[in-house]
Amino acid sequence: MGDGRGDMDDINDLRATLLAEVTGAANLDGLERVRVATLGKKGAVTDRMKSLRDLDGAARKAAGAALNALKNEISDAIEARKEDLGDAHVEARLASEQIDVTLPARSSPDGRVHPVSQVLDEIIAIFGDMGFAIAEGPHIEDDFHNFEALNIPPEHPARQEHDTFYFAPGPDGERKVLRTHTSPVQVRTMQSTEPPLRIIAPGRTYRCDSDQTHTPMFHQVEGLVIDKSTHMGHLKGCLHDFVTAFFEVDDVPTRFRPSYFPFTSPSAEVDIGCTRKDGELRIGAGDDWLEILGCGMVHSNVLTNCGIDPAVYQGFAFGIGIDRLAMLKYGINDLRSFFDADLRWLRHYGFAALDLPTLPGGLAR
Ligand code: DAH
Repeated sequence: MGDGRGDMDDINDLRATLLAEVTGAANLDGLERVRVATLGKKGAVTDRMKSLRDLDGAARKAAGAALNALKNEISDAIEARKEDLGDAHVEARLASEQIDVTLPARSSPDGRVHPVSQVLDEIIAIFGDMGFAIAEGPHIEDDFHNFEALNIPPEHPARQEHDTFYFAPGPDGERKVLRTHTSPVQVRTMQSTEPPLRIIAPGRTYRCDSDQTHTPMFHQVEGLVIDKSTHMGHLKGCLHDFVTAFFEVDDVPTRFRPSYFPFTSPSAEVDIGCTRKDGELRIGAGDDWLEILGCGMVHSNVLTNCGIDPAVYQGFAFGIGIDRLAMLKYGINDLRSFFDADLRWLRHYGFAALDLPTLPGGLAR
């Protein structure tokens, strides 16, 4: 007889104990502990295999075969138990994580939608309804897209007005910029897509400027329509429809004043009618005007720079400051409060998260 470790009786006892432990494991973690305690480096079966070297000849052979068979049997039992427990685990999760998708949404989730996001969604709803697609571009731009292609060459005075944030020169000596307006997205769209085009490009823009009416990061939406016959009349109609829908007032008169932008010709600034009384500003037909955006017919140089033949195609563009529109519509006085991340402010000025603006459903509720 051996030393009680590795002889046949011992192996049979061990077999019964281990199989009972495997069956008794209540979950996958428990089963893993049994596996380690049995077949792991210092496990009961491994241990006995190591002590085979103490046995001699025939006894070692018999015990070795028996231990191998035991090892395989336990391994199989663990695998089988694992499958059962795994199925049970998945079933328990499925049962506990059931959700009723027909339940109505909770009426007041904690988060509020920031007025800038709200106005952005409103703008997208309005122009989406007019058939405009959404275009995007990078915030870090090169000189060509931000200035040059837009008919603003290096010494052009319009560059001074842009208070540009410049990056350090790259290996090729080129200085990238944080885009100073959303107009470079016009350029990218014209370069990448065959006309006819009808896009808006909302997004963040950056200028090195900060006071009550300027923040270093602000939001614009660019509009661009290019085809063979679009003219200034379409531009007027489009913007008039937009401001009427946006301000949700029956009659918002618009006035086009001649202006100058390097990338449009002719260019105009658009004012909307308003009344100012006792420090209150009311949008709609009145005795006063308020400037809200810049626009014009896309300059033929810009079309050419973007690979579009100005003898065939023409169109209009506009640029609107989103933050200012949000301030006007929702009576917010200080632009900087938009970026204070003050939760009390957001609870007051924010919008219910589940009320997405739509034209049929109403823009702001
Ligand atoms: N890019 C101009 C700015 O940031 C805004 C603008 C004016 C855009 C007229 C246009 C436009 O597309 O036609 O000041």
